[in-house]
Amino acid sequence: MAVKMHLSFFIFATIGCMLLVSVSSTTHIVGDKMGWNVPISPKFYEEWAQKRTFVVGDILLFQYHTGLNTVILVGKDDYDNCTTRNIIHIYFRGNSSIPLKKPGDYFFFSSVGKHCEAGQKLHVTVPSHPTQSSN
Ligand SMILES: *[C@@H]1O[C@H](CO)[C@@H](O)[C@H](O)[C@H]1NC(C)=O
Ligand SMILES: *[C@@H]1O[C@H](CO)[C@@H](O)[C@H](O)[C@H]1NC(C)=O
Repeated sequence: MAVKMHLSFFIFATIGCMLLVSVSSTTHIVGDKMGWNVPISPKFYEEWAQKRTFVVGDILLFQYHTGLNTVILVGKDDYDNCTTRNIIHIYFRGNSSIPLKKPGDYFFFSSVGKHCEAGQKLHVTVPSHPTQSSN
């Protein structure tokens, strides 16, 4: 009996968590109308990210045309220097949806030409304990 109750509570809690995640998930269109392109101002994507909050389960949607841009996920060193020594993931098929599955820092840039040097780079932080005032 105790085992049964425990199991039903577990199932209930799991469903509750799933609902919570799906309700709080937001898709952020990176750069809004600008999409994912070489920006006019080198600080464009930094400013875009500063205006938002990101939580676990959110999705970043990078809108770009295949072949003209890429989205690569790198560490901080590569991000700071616009180098590609340690690429964690590369997205290149156009319009990439990237889920923020866990807390931490995410560093992206476009590895085409000198796009990164021109400011086509994005750093977002996903806190492990999101504040209530998100979005
Ligand atoms: C990359 O950047 C880090 C600090 O951001 C610096 O310490 C390091 O020397 C740089 N590496 C290269 C190869 O420029
Ligand atoms: C990407 O999304 C934009 C806007 O929704 C759309 O116009 C475009 O055709 C899409 N491109 C690709 C490669 O999917």
